[in-house]
Amino acid sequence: MDVVTSIKELRQRINLAPRPIGLVPTMGALHEGHLSLMRRARVDSATVVATIFVNPTQFTPTEDLTRYPRDLKADLKLLQGNGVDVVFCPSADEVYPPGFVTTVEVRGPALPLEGEARPDHFPGVATVMTKLLLVSAPDVAYLGQKDAQQAAVIKRLVVDLDISVHVEVCPTVREPDGLAMSSRNAYLSFEQRAAAPVILGALSAAQARYKSGELSRQTLERTCREMLEAEPLIGAIDYVAVVDSCSFTKAADSLGAQLVTLVVAVRIGSTRLIDNVELKPE
Ligand code: PAJ
Repeated sequence: MDVVTSIKELRQRINLAPRPIGLVPTMGALHEGHLSLMRRARVDSATVVATIFVNPTQFTPTEDLTRYPRDLKADLKLLQGNGVDVVFCPSADEVYPPGFVTTVEVRGPALPLEGEARPDHFPGVATVMTKLLLVSAPDVAYLGQKDAQQAAVIKRLVVDLDISVHVEVCPTVREPDGLAMSSRNAYLSFEQRAAAPVILGALSAAQARYKSGELSRQTLERTCREMLEAEPLIGAIDYVAVVDSCSFTKAADSLGAQLVTLVVAVRIGSTRLIDNVELKPE
């Protein structure tokens, strides 16, 4: 496994790499959710490239970038054990050298929900993803369904900018009690961690009603919201929404053939957690 820190070195390595190339972009603090993407990429690709970069531009001013968990040594060990060929772990100066003033801004799916709650987030994600896609020129980029809106934004970005890559969205990996794996779960206290599975419980309750024939968007959202509200450790509910899976606009009042996703963002203490399920007929 080659560990490279400069864009020049990465380009040289990519030019020699057998195709197809699979890219798995991450911010490190790797867990099973990330590793499932590495393993999926390994199955499909001749070369697997992983990136580890805690991208400063996608953190909003109220979020503590310095608090984000980092353990490069442990991450590299995990990547080695999961068949990764090249790891790109640049410094912030390598990605954003002095004089850097260009931002990629996606509208459409980047505007509501996470876009409203964290205004600088998607411009930061879109800018770094554009750079990572340009320098690693992958055939396929592997992303997690866990961050469904992010995946929709990146899909839109590659279409709009004619970046020749297929975006493959892979299933959310969960803890045995249903909590979606996330680097942010480490911030939860013992009691908060014990309460957190209510998020999947609430999503699943709405999903079950949908599967048994309930098509009213408002009723499904209410089912999910009421279950979240019943948990005292959920401090705030940023949103509960059934949205079109591509545009992330509000789904029709009565759900039909449209592909839709039920998305939630909640706060437990000072930790903000997001999760989602696709609502599909069986
Ligand atoms: P990060 O939060 O490290 O996530 C990297 C990738 O892992 C994303 O595609 C995310 O959706 C996926 N992922 C996280 N938790 C998952 C889980 N429980 N199951 C399946 N996949 C999961 O997302 C980012 O980094 C950044 O925004 C990035 C795209 C790297 C741009 O900086």
